[in-house]
Amino acid sequence: MLKNIKLGTRFNLILALVFMLGITISGAALSSVLQQRAQAEVTSQALLLIQAMNSVRSYTSNHIKPLLAPQLEPETTFTAETVPAYSATEVFENLRQSEDYKNFFYKEATLNPTNLRDKADDFESKLVERFRSEPNTPEISGFRALPGGQMFYIARPLAVSQKSCLQCHSKPEVAPKSLVETYGAENGFGWQLNEIVATQVISVPADDVLASANRSLSLIMSILIGIFAVVILLINLLLRRSVIWRIRRMAKVAQEVSTGKTSTDFEQDCGDEIGALGIAFNRMKSSLEIAMRLLSQQQDG
Ligand code: HEC
Repeated sequence: MLKNIKLGTRFNLILALVFMLGITISGAALSSVLQQRAQAEVTSQALLLIQAMNSVRSYTSNHIKPLLAPQLEPETTFTAETVPAYSATEVFENLRQSEDYKNFFYKEATLNPTNLRDKADDFESKLVERFRSEPNTPEISGFRALPGGQMFYIARPLAVSQKSCLQCHSKPEVAPKSLVETYGAENGFGWQLNEIVATQVISVPADDVLASANRSLSLIMSILIGIFAVVILLINLLLRRSVIWRIRRMAKVAQEVSTGKTSTDFEQDCGDEIGALGIAFNRMKSSLEIAMRLLSQQQDG
């Protein structure tokens, strides 16, 4: 099929095909590498923050709670500072005051929470259900679209790990009176030992990181396309100058020679293959001239 197409067009067709294939493959590879890097970046941010929140939780359980426990019973208002979930949520709220972290979120999303601000939304409820049905899943992560933009989240299950939790989360009758006074007797009770009641979810904004990955992708792709275009242009120029134009001139000379016009010579000023062809053609032309001369002499004689 390519046989009847001109040499230059044929070359260009093949080059364009290689060019497009190269751009597509390198674009796909680059996009996946950049995407992975962007995901690794948001993952490491989320992991660091969730680890920091767990440190706040254990500091509260080990240091603050024992210190303030005696206050819980006699007081009428519950000292929420003794609760790890409360301190982690509050510390994170402090972090969000800073401009750089205002779109980060932390929540101990609970199906039946003591404090209603911890109530799991539909998405988080599904995560809790999934952790309940797959007890061996230690972590779920992914992207989630929120009004503020695309978010990357990491969720971990939160279980009622100790019997001591049941003092405040089983029945209102056994809970400190101050707790019932402050939070009421409806919410945050009826939890079972070892039951997964909540999920700890950290959400990190991913838009900026993904946008920066896309910017890098467009930049590198434009550079690649530019380089390919220049290469194709140069190859074309070289092909035209050193092959096509010279072959055309040769064809013209051969055409003239065939009609008996022997005054023009084939080009032979280059030491390359076409130059060698020119030398051979000139030699053939000379032999032809001699043969013709001999022939006409014979005819004359
Ligand atoms: C002294 C009572 C008390 C004990 C003991 C206790 N909690 Fe709580 N817990 C609370 C209160 C009060 C809140 C609500 C705090 C707030 O205002 O954010 C809470 C909140 C939570 C939350 C966030 C969701 C919600 O209900 O608002 C989780 C999760 C939680 N507790 C888990 C546990 C676990 C697990 C244990 C055992 C290791 C435990 N709690 C022990 C009183 C207690």
